[in-house]
Amino acid sequence: MSKGTLRKGELLYEGKAKKVFATDHPDLIIQEFKDDATAFNAQKKGQIHNKGVINNELASHFFQYLETFGIQTHFVEKLSEREMACKRLEIIKIEVVMRNIAAGTLVKRYGFEEGVELPMPITELYLKNDALGDPLINDDHAVVLNLASPEEITFLKQTAWKINAILRQYFLSKGLKLVDFKLEFGRHNGLILLGDEISPDTCRLWDRDTNKKLDKDRFRFDLGEVEDAYCEVRNRVLG
Ligand code: TMP
Ligand code: ASP
Repeated sequence: MSKGTLRKGELLYEGKAKKVFATDHPDLIIQEFKDDATAFNAQKKGQIHNKGVINNELASHFFQYLETFGIQTHFVEKLSEREMACKRLEIIKIEVVMRNIAAGTLVKRYGFEEGVELPMPITELYLKNDALGDPLINDDHAVVLNLASPEEITFLKQTAWKINAILRQYFLSKGLKLVDFKLEFGRHNGLILLGDEISPDTCRLWDRDTNKKLDKDRFRFDLGEVEDAYCEVRNRVLG
C-alpha cells in the first residue's frame, strides 16, 4: 500500500483526541489526530495548538522504532500531517499503565512522594470504560469481565514491560525521563497488536536534568507553556 491508494470512508468513531475512519480496505482504518485535549474523564476540555500534528509524527516514529525490536503494532503508514493508516483492531478494553517514577494517581492513591524512582517498574491494568471512570482492575477482574484470556493478559503485561525497557532507554538518550505511560492493544488476524498512540498525551516525560514536565500534565494542571512542551519533545525526539 502507498500514499494515495487508500480511500477514507465513513467516520467510525470519534474519541477525545482522535477520529477513526473506515477505508476502502476492510483490514485498514485511518486515525486522524485532533488538537482537542481532555483531562479528568473529559471534565476539563481544551485545545493544544498543533498537538494532532506532533502526536501523529511522534506516534508514527515510536511505532516504527518499536517494530525494529519485534513489537507488533497497528501502524501501517503515516499518510499526512494528521492521518495515520492502521490495521483495524478489535480493541481490548484494558489500559495498561507502566510506571518508573512516582507521579499522578500513584501519588494520589498510595502516598508515594512525587519524583521518587521506583525500585522496579509497576504495571497496572485499568478497565477502559469512561462511564465507570476507568477503574483500576487486576488480572482476575479482566478475565471474569471477559476482557481477555489469562494468556492474553500475560502477553499484554510482558509486552508492556518490554516496551518500557526500550522506550525508557530511548527517551533518556534524548534527555527525557519516561515517568509513566499508558498502552492499548487490540486483536487483528489472531495476533495482539499495540494500538492507539504513544505521545505526550499518553506518557509523562520530564526533563532529565531539571524534572520539568514536558507532557499533558501541563494542560491537566494549568502549568502553562503547553504547546512549547509538545514542541520540545518533538524536537528532542525527531530533531
Ligand atoms: P495516571 O497517573 O493519571 O493514572 O496516569 C498514568 C499514565 O497514563 C500517564 O502517563 C498518563 C496516562 N493516561 C492516559 O494516557 N489516559 C488517561 O485517561 C489517563 C488517566 C492516564
Ligand atoms: N484523556 C483522559 C480524559 O479526558 C484523561 C487524561 O488523559 O488525563 O478522560
